[in-house]
Amino acid sequence: MKKKVFSGVQPSGIPTIGNYVGAMKHFVELQDEYDCTYCIVNQHAITVPQDPSELRSRTRELAALYLALGIDPNKSTIFVQSDVPAHAQAAWIVQCHTSIGELERMTQYKDKSGKQESVSAGLLTYPPLMAADIILYDTDFVPVGDDQKQHLELTRNFVQRFNNRYSKKDELLVMPEPMIAEEGSRIMSLQEPTSKMSKSDTNQKGFISLLDPPNVILKKIKSAKTDSSGVIEYDKENKPGISNLLTIFSAFSGKSIKELEAEFAGSGYGDFKVQLAEAIIAVLEPIQNRYQELLVSDELDHVLKEGAERANKVAHATLKRMETAIGLA
Ligand code: AQP
Repeated sequence: MKKKVFSGVQPSGIPTIGNYVGAMKHFVELQDEYDCTYCIVNQHAITVPQDPSELRSRTRELAALYLALGIDPNKSTIFVQSDVPAHAQAAWIVQCHTSIGELERMTQYKDKSGKQESVSAGLLTYPPLMAADIILYDTDFVPVGDDQKQHLELTRNFVQRFNNRYSKKDELLVMPEPMIAEEGSRIMSLQEPTSKMSKSDTNQKGFISLLDPPNVILKKIKSAKTDSSGVIEYDKENKPGISNLLTIFSAFSGKSIKELEAEFAGSGYGDFKVQLAEAIIAVLEPIQNRYQELLVSDELDHVLKEGAERANKVAHATLKRMETAIGLA
């Protein structure tokens, strides 16, 4: 039997090239070898304020992007989190087995809560919902970016605690493992290369969204922060801007960073940036064309309906197993 993969993306904005390089690109590559389930985690998105109609349309747009990227509904299950009630139900069980101290230690909570005027309880209990997402599908592997490593660790601690406490002989819940790529698992902001690129960044110049048109991509890359040395070499500590651009170039061209350093030895940043923009556009343009077609087709609604039916069956069975173990059923 194939090993199981689960991952998700929040419809909290249009995905960036960071989301793509760190996670979504791998979603497509894993489909043949693994039994994959990909979720649009809209319940995670409401941990910070969202405009209702924007959230609704972004959810559908993210589903169209999944398909446009090449996630094949005949191979993988694609669904919207709020269409499967077991996620919220299992998250409650996870919360009741997780300490507040563990949640308060999460770096993402500390970062995001610092930026909010009023912090929702949901922002604190985001990791238990993520743990529920993962365990409901008996997940073996979770392809994610580096920023989710700590949440995965919390999930693994929960699984171990739950299995130790409630399982008599067989493991009740499958222990998931993160799948974090060696390169590109943390793409940085184009404007602040020491901070992570994020789709909800208020500075539009900090990220490239997967739907940015070619002229915008070129403009954003041209205005990306670099340094004054003018040398194209990877040095994360001293040259974070150019190192980030090299990582992005490598992910979009398939060339290694070493190859790119050799190719651009002696070139200026201007020429390098134009060629980087071209490499990004070459990958994104066909995806954007397919996306536009999908958005107006019935195929999308059909895929999401079928995906939710499939996901509901699997998730409900795991939830029942958890409820029975703890005496709720
Ligand atoms: N900069 C990044 N580099 C590499 N991978 C990244 N991911 C996020 N940012 C980068 C990975 O993308 C997947 C989906 O992310 P998410 O939607 O679950 O939320 P996030 O991690 O909080 O991403 P954002 O873009 O920063 O969203 P907002 O701005 O809403 O918080 C995950 O696998 C993530 O690791």
